[in-house]
Amino acid sequence: MMININDLTVTFKNKVTAVDHVNLSIGSGIYGLLGENGAGKTTLMRVLVTVLKPTSGSITMNGVLYGEQNYRRLQKKIGYLPQELNLYPNLTVRECLEYMGELSGIEKRECRKRIDFYLEKTSLAEHQHKKNRQLSGGMKRRVGLVQALLNEPKFLIVDEPTTGLDPEERIRIRNLLVDFSRDRTVLFSTHVVEDLAATCNQIAIMKKGAMIYSGAVRDLVSEVRGHVWICTVKNEAQARELETKYHVSAKQYVDGGLQMKLLSEEKPEVECALAEATLEDAYIYCGQFQSL
Ligand SMILES: Nc1ncnc2c1ncn2[C@@H]1O[C@H](COP(=O)(O)OP(=O)(O)OP(=O)(O)O)[C@@H](O)[C@H]1O
Ligand SMILES: [Mg+2]
Repeated sequence: MMININDLTVTFKNKVTAVDHVNLSIGSGIYGLLGENGAGKTTLMRVLVTVLKPTSGSITMNGVLYGEQNYRRLQKKIGYLPQELNLYPNLTVRECLEYMGELSGIEKRECRKRIDFYLEKTSLAEHQHKKNRQLSGGMKRRVGLVQALLNEPKFLIVDEPTTGLDPEERIRIRNLLVDFSRDRTVLFSTHVVEDLAATCNQIAIMKKGAMIYSGAVRDLVSEVRGHVWICTVKNEAQARELETKYHVSAKQYVDGGLQMKLLSEEKPEVECALAEATLEDAYIYCGQFQSL
């Protein structure tokens, strides 16, 4: 599977350009999409699932152009978990999934088999006879994910699948996505950098509609190596002074004062040592310096 996005722009009627001349190639495997609120992730995903037409630019999936004449053909290969999903409130989880399976044209017996399998995988089997309106936020998210997986899409697009999940479920869902990504393509947006660090080896970062990084997680982290510093300050005044001069990616009270992690191209003007860089540091660094 290869998705090529060429010079894609989406400008809404209110003149907001949510996606700004984006180029990106997405191959097989699991691909992370990061970016601050309003960066354009959901808009890009909506174009990729054919619910939104771009203002300019083009996309191809395995050489097939995203154009209305090909939408049905493309949609058969796509699964989508939207950021905001309204499940039929009065249907039970099972009824809802069976109905959605029917809409996608999946044969009944096969559909039931898949529903059983994915309900089990998402720890929802015991809740399948509850009405959607009786579900917690995290459970709804998981039903949404099962719905997206039902047609076993070659290209799965999940917009913040782990939002609202407890830590154990987050890990299960992440692992499910990794399993699912074998010989498929999964595009996974999140604000939880840890989720991407644990699952993806390729990431893309958006800022104000532009793609500011795309490539290997490893390469991004190595770019920030040598620019992450750790120091311990004795009082609040000193901490505040550092905060005005540097980007602070973490701070924590420890014996002896306040320990701070600073992101800086040059060695900060304070007693400090180089620290291990994490993906979170690299993400913040990339957003601030944009020179990667
Ligand atoms: N239908 C719309 N009409 C007008 N502007 C829109 C519309 N949808 C999104 N926007 C604007 O486009 C920009 C990108 O929004 P988008 O939802 O794609 O961001 P996001 O990266 O998904 O953010 P978040 O992390 O909060 O989900 C924002 O400025 C938003 O206000
Ligand atoms: Mg969004």
